Amino acid sequence: MKPKKVSESKTTMTEMVMPNDTNPLNNLMGGNLMRWMDIAGGICAGKHCEAFVVTASVDHVSFQKPIAMGDIVTLEASVTRAFNTSVEIYVEVFAHDMKGGNPRRCNAAYFTFVALDDEKKSPIKIPKVVPLTNEEQKLFDSAKRRRELRLILGGRMKPEESKELKELFLS
Ligand SMILES: CC(C)(COP(=O)(O)OP(=O)(O)OC[C@H]1O[C@@H](n2cnc3c(N)ncnc32)[C@H](O)[C@@H]1OP(=O)(O)O)[C@@H](O)C(=O)NCCC(=O)NCCS
Repeated sequence: MKPKKVSESKTTMTEMVMPNDTNPLNNLMGGNLMRWMDIAGGICAGKHCEAFVVTASVDHVSFQKPIAMGDIVTLEASVTRAFNTSVEIYVEVFAHDMKGGNPRRCNAAYFTFVALDDEKKSPIKIPKVVPLTNEEQKLFDSAKRRRELRLILGGRMKPEESKELKELFLS
């Protein structure tokens, strides 16, 4: 399977916050933003894996800056690293007002998607990622320890089985 560049699956999605998307304070509701992040991440993962993908997990998300009704929200999703059948996608969220003013970075999160076969049942092997820029390399290198942490928190790995985290905390 031919390894792929990050740029081959980079995905940008733009939305305008409409009344249906808001909470009682007239700001974008957190759950709706997470939905958009999941969609942008899923498109990116599907492109990288060239397969059906499902969301396996989402790491910590914090909502740092409110996004008001009428604001324009841009979501940028990039693959950081592919493992065996799962891939980590970094989704960043930016917003500005309708005239392009008050541009800001609002939040970001790491999503894990698993690629499935055409019957949408069994996980399948996926292409590796080739990091090219310094930033891509940093995200690629740190992906292993994020993976260990999420597998431990998800009850799929024992803390004593971790390598990267042990090195980080015990070295
Ligand atoms: C994700 C899913 C396909 C994994 O199935 P599974 O039988 O546990 O498969 P495996 O044990 O073979 O694991 C497959 C991959 O998923 C990864 N994975 C599974 N659970 C994970 C989790 N909670 N966090 C991160 N990765 C996870 C494994 O590490 C493995 O990755 P790797 O092959 O790169 O090492 C399955 O749990 C599922 O279908 N979940 C529901 C997905 C869904 O419907 N999402 C939408 C929201 S409801």
